[in-house]
Amino acid sequence: MSLESFFSNFFFENYWEKKIFHIKERNFINSNELIDEIDFFLSRKDVHLSNVRIVTKGIDIPSKLYSYSSRNLKGVEEFFVEPLSLITHFNEGGTIVINSANESISILRKLCFDFEKKLNMNFQANIYITPPNSQGFKPHYDNHDIFLFQVKGTKLWNFYKDGFELATNFSRKNEVNEIDFSLSLEEEDLLYLPRGIVHEAFSENQSSIHVNFIGKPRYGFNLVEDFANLVQDKFVFFRKTMPTKYSDNEEKQKYLSLFKENIKQVIDNFSFEDFNENLSNSHYKTSSLNLSGRFRNIIEVDNITEQTEIKANFNMCVLIKEENGDLIIKLKDIQMIIPKIIDSSFVNKLTSFKVKEIQGLLSNKGKIEFAKQLIRFGVFEIVDLT
Ligand SMILES: [Fe+2]
Repeated sequence: MSLESFFSNFFFENYWEKKIFHIKERNFINSNELIDEIDFFLSRKDVHLSNVRIVTKGIDIPSKLYSYSSRNLKGVEEFFVEPLSLITHFNEGGTIVINSANESISILRKLCFDFEKKLNMNFQANIYITPPNSQGFKPHYDNHDIFLFQVKGTKLWNFYKDGFELATNFSRKNEVNEIDFSLSLEEEDLLYLPRGIVHEAFSENQSSIHVNFIGKPRYGFNLVEDFANLVQDKFVFFRKTMPTKYSDNEEKQKYLSLFKENIKQVIDNFSFEDFNENLSNSHYKTSSLNLSGRFRNIIEVDNITEQTEIKANFNMCVLIKEENGDLIIKLKDIQMIIPKIIDSSFVNKLTSFKVKEIQGLLSNKGKIEFAKQLIRFGVFEIVDLT
């Protein structure tokens, strides 16, 4: 079994949004490197309080007990984590939670991008560091699906019966029913936990670290929200005021039947292509940018020659569309046009190629200039400068 087990039809058919999947994965993360990165992060004096929580048995330790404030150059008071008090609370049984750790820990940033690419949805990573024989959270369910990686130590997990099927709200279940089953997660184990399943975890006789990779897909009701924007934009009927308190029953009934008729018309005309475009647009709009290597490319770009090897940077989530024979590549708010005089087939090439291999009505000098534009734009990267 490997991480690839999560990225398969088998997983999606049998487990996704249905049941827990426990795999014994090895070498998914280099645990020692990750612990070094966490150590470096938590010893910094500039970690914003919003990134860190300390929790004991479901209760948040008041943040003023492990933070300090400082005024920035504009005179605004900002709050930071005080590393020494963090350690004190940990020694007293508190679980340290680092939220959105993918923003500061490079190993997790890379893994989140891997998950994003494989599953076409946004990901966030949270870290949980629990001292021996402790419990961070009381039984609860989460409103997002989790891919959990046990980095260090062993943790005993209890999963309860009767959660909240496919929970998407922030409510927490306080009343818990009987335990359905328990699992002991050992170092380097991976677990998929669907949202809505009530759970709790206990560390054993040594400290435990686990990382939750949290998937943020689009749900059916998000499409309904999109419909609301679509109908508002395109149909006058939906911009009209609904019946007011001065409307009689007949008017209200008439409005209701017109409303149903109009909704049906919009839905009947909604095609699979619209749906697909909507889906890729939404991931494109919300995906985070993986800027690793961008700075190195920017400072090396002036040295490229026709022999330089470049390749598409598939870490970037871009929108590609054709307009009057030109190809338009959009990266967030900026775009680059590949004019029709250049053969744009290189855009989809998975392997690297030499600058001189770009085909089209361009001199070698023109190819170098064009390649520089591609790299500055960010959707292509230098593989070998030579
Ligand atoms: Fe949880």
